Amino acid sequence: MAEQESSPEEGSASSSVFLSLGPQCCMSTFSFNVTMSSAVVDQAADLVIELSSTPKTKLDEPAFGNVFTDHMLTIEWSASDGWQAPLIKPFGNLSLHPACSSLHYGIQLFEGLKAFRGDDNQLRLFRPMLNMNRMSNSAKRACLPAFDQSELLECIRRLVEIDQDWVPHSESASLYIRPTFLGTERSLGVKKPANALLYVILCRVGSYFNSETKGLSLWADPKYTRAWKGGTGNYKMGGNYGCSLLAQYEAEDHGCQQVLWLYGEDHQITEAGTMNIFLHWITEDGEEELATPPLDGIILPGVTRQSILELTRKWGEFKVTERYLTMSQLCSALKQLRVKEVFGSGTACMICPIGHIVYQGEVRERSRLMLTSRIAKELIDIQVGRNTHKHTQTHTHTHTHTHTQMFLHLSVTAG
Ligand code: COI
Repeated sequence: MAEQESSPEEGSASSSVFLSLGPQCCMSTFSFNVTMSSAVVDQAADLVIELSSTPKTKLDEPAFGNVFTDHMLTIEWSASDGWQAPLIKPFGNLSLHPACSSLHYGIQLFEGLKAFRGDDNQLRLFRPMLNMNRMSNSAKRACLPAFDQSELLECIRRLVEIDQDWVPHSESASLYIRPTFLGTERSLGVKKPANALLYVILCRVGSYFNSETKGLSLWADPKYTRAWKGGTGNYKMGGNYGCSLLAQYEAEDHGCQQVLWLYGEDHQITEAGTMNIFLHWITEDGEEELATPPLDGIILPGVTRQSILELTRKWGEFKVTERYLTMSQLCSALKQLRVKEVFGSGTACMICPIGHIVYQGEVRERSRLMLTSRIAKELIDIQVGRNTHKHTQTHTHTHTHTHTQMFLHLSVTAG
């Protein structure tokens, strides 16, 4: 039977099981949904841990994605034996067969989420079940095997706990968590891989762009297309990013930092670089609106995107809409001074103002930062555990559908 794509709200058909964690764990308890299906075996309880004997020096805020922590998580799968015991081991190179399917056919996907250290010294993962759910949807699209989302999250939590000293003591930096899933079958046949490797690495990160306060510059040209209907743009697969590189360098030739990805004859605005995009403006009908393109198959369902929509809808101060936006609408709004702000969102950058757009040879500018700064502040407050009464829930009891909560965090007590 073909499996349906799930949204985090649907959750898994599961019985909710209260797990208490082993002696390695600093945090006392929290609840998990455990899918009762033998097809998806990935048991955090079987986790094997080999600690590194040579911890590395921790640089303060290295460039994004360059410096990795001391440990990594690996979990192997084969069609014949299913999931093997998860292993946390010293960070190191992978050994892959030269014919493995991820190298030849891009049978691969990844995720990105972050752990933050709060003022209370607790570590929090921001809405991690949304990432687990998106990863599971990407796995279906890539013909990689199903996994138990809650069990994987527990393995990740253990990994973060082991490398907890790497989580920066700063609200402008965090620990970036990169789950990755590869087809590893040693065969050149174009088919579902019979072997796969799921691994997770961590790196300490500061800000993604070094121009955030000034605002990012975007090159908008229909010459390149990031995603198309029926493609993979709404899944987090490496190929979506690799294919964007040439355009990214062409944007630089036009004096811009990133590409504003357009789609279709009417030049629909879709994404900005590796981010979702938002427009805060006054519509032609005179209404204040925050708008972002809808999840119609070519837009990545970003966790930050969803959080911004939920947060601003909760404010109830202006209309918040998911709808198609075109360059001609944006250009006339800019001309009529109806555009308040334009910004991008993503896990790596969180929220990033867009300063100007180069389109059809003209520079279109807009660089106010009021809404961007307000959203950034509220999100940071949530991520570091301020305002917990408003937006977060720490789970100490059996609970189904925990991931439907607004700004759920999992707490890991820092040692
Ligand atoms: C993220 O924002 O997490 C991304 O995936 C961007 C990444 C390609 C650096």
